[in-house]
Amino acid sequence: MMENYSQFVLFFVLGAAVGIVSIAVALSWVLHYREGLGWDGGAAEFNWHPLLMVIGFIFLQGIAIVVYRLPWTWRCSKQMMKLIHAGLHILAFILAVISVVAVFDFHNAKNIPNMYSLHSWVGLAAVILYPSQIVLGIAVYLIPVTPVRVRAALMPLHIYSGLFIFISVIATALMGITEKLIFSLKSPAYKDSPPEAVLVNVLGLLIAAFGALVVWIATRSAWKRPREEIAQTLSNNTTSPEEIKVGTDMTTTS
Ligand code: HEM
Ligand code: HEM
Repeated sequence: MMENYSQFVLFFVLGAAVGIVSIAVALSWVLHYREGLGWDGGAAEFNWHPLLMVIGFIFLQGIAIVVYRLPWTWRCSKQMMKLIHAGLHILAFILAVISVVAVFDFHNAKNIPNMYSLHSWVGLAAVILYPSQIVLGIAVYLIPVTPVRVRAALMPLHIYSGLFIFISVIATALMGITEKLIFSLKSPAYKDSPPEAVLVNVLGLLIAAFGALVVWIATRSAWKRPREEIAQTLSNNTTSPEEIKVGTDMTTTS
């Protein structure tokens, strides 16, 4: 039923693989080159910060965004897919909160000032906007009281703000990586390109590639889950197949 199915599979499998490799690289960074993981107010506690951000705020959020596009789920009810979409976002948010607590705790234990960098400003803004998007999403799309017209009118905004938050998180991660390498590589320094610097620069590229693939999939109107009513209308033979993809790109009202 999906147009360009094999192209979709290629993009999705590539995206998932790049995401999983990013998590593996982040894990081997903190375990092999840094102090490992712990919850002691020291560097090992800080290390939860990048790791949980990559797993939660980047990978799980990205998967949550494309989950409606998986053609294998189109037989599942829309309500079930909404629960999965919302559940993955809530899980991503919980991991992001633990990750932020880790870095604040580390700063406080070491008397390092909080919230001075651009990274922390953009990052905290994303951590605040994200639950607002979750609460609005649940209120508008999960609880069956909002009129269909209001749901449809707010959808372009939901998609736009969702993608905006996701892209901001990717940008935040790249800033955080750069800062961390500048702070912690002393001899040899970052500018001397030691193996750790090369590995973590590659992590930054992988994160950017993951973001690019997710945004590409989420903005292809041809890969959108067909709307329930349209499936019904089609069976009544009143709508042409070309009209199936209405409301699929960000500029069209669903
Ligand atoms: C991807 C989403 C991310 C978000 C939303 C985020 C958010 C934040 C926030 C809010 C702080 C401020 C903590 C404080 O002031 O005590 C912070 C600090 C920090 N983060 Fe991240 N972070 C992210 C990813 C990363 C990554 C991947 C790294 C890589 C190591 C990183 C490295 C740092 C460093 C070094 C600090 C301490 C210095 C500073 O405050 O800028 N962050 N982060
Ligand atoms: C921070 C959390 C959230 C983000 C970042 C987000 C982001 C997105 C994005 C980017 C899309 C477009 C996906 C596509 O076109 O296939 C989308 C669609 C959607 N989201 Fe969310 N969302 C969030 C939370 C929620 C919640 C809690 C609900 C409640 C159920 C929800 C309901 C929906 C619905 C119904 C769609 C339309 C799917 C379709 O047209 O097939 N979202 N979301």
